[in-house]
Amino acid sequence: MSEDKIKVQVTNLTKKFGDLLVLDDISFNVKQGEFLCIVGPTGCGKTTFLNSLTKLYDLTAGEILINGEPVNLKKHNIAYILQEYSTFPWLKVEENIKYGLRIKKIPEDEVQKRADEVIAMVGLEEFRNYYPDQLSASMLQRVVIARAFAVQPELLLMDEPYGQLDISLRFRLEDELLKLWEKTETTVIFITHNIEEAVYLSERILVLTNKPTKIKKELLNPLPRPRDVTSKEFVEIRNYVTDLIKWW
Ligand SMILES: Nc1ncnc2c1ncn2[C@@H]1O[C@H](COP(=O)(O)OP(=O)(O)O)[C@@H](O)[C@H]1O
Ligand SMILES: [Mg+2]
Repeated sequence: MSEDKIKVQVTNLTKKFGDLLVLDDISFNVKQGEFLCIVGPTGCGKTTFLNSLTKLYDLTAGEILINGEPVNLKKHNIAYILQEYSTFPWLKVEENIKYGLRIKKIPEDEVQKRADEVIAMVGLEEFRNYYPDQLSASMLQRVVIARAFAVQPELLLMDEPYGQLDISLRFRLEDELLKLWEKTETTVIFITHNIEEAVYLSERILVLTNKPTKIKKELLNPLPRPRDVTSKEFVEIRNYVTDLIKWW
């Protein structure tokens, strides 16, 4: 990780819907190559933050910069895995993965090369000609992640991607994600309400409050990898974050 290069700079971000103040004057940075997890209670504005970053929502006040410039989706290569992730049911796996590359008008031989690469990375070789409805939940997740990495994003946004999955599958997919992150050095902002997941994945964790939402705590996660969720150090950090939150 190149130490001090700032990838994303969020300054005084405020977002209201009518009279409802959701994000209340939030500022933080994300470093180049960092894996940042953001945890916060349901309804605090996590999805709203990602939608603001990707310009689906206008900001009420403040600014979000990427590489020091206002976000520009034509210029900045951002992949966004939505909470309700989806594939195109009428396209085979390989075509799903190629779709975003074709939108970016990448030459067809490069499209094929990148599709082959990411399909191999997530182990979908045997399934490239399947349709999404012929796949299990875990396979679908792999298609979604492969599609995101195919565009070689400089910034990967993930909104509670594994929330609906059972725990053993979640662990497997988290490990695959970490391998891809390590290999590609992509900057990742990963939203979750699962504290264990945040401690397992992140270099740093932002803990949000309830609405109107501020950053309650920002903490560095120094645990060496691979991480052991049962180790004393892991459990200590997990408990610390849990105490910090007390949403219940
Ligand atoms: N497009 C919208 N219009 C009005 N209110 C919205 C809109 N999107 C989100 N909200 C409200 O903003 C708050 C934060 O929502 P959201 O960002 O989805 O929370 P989270 O992802 O943290 O669960 C909620 O109270 C939600 O109802
Ligand atoms: Mg959400």
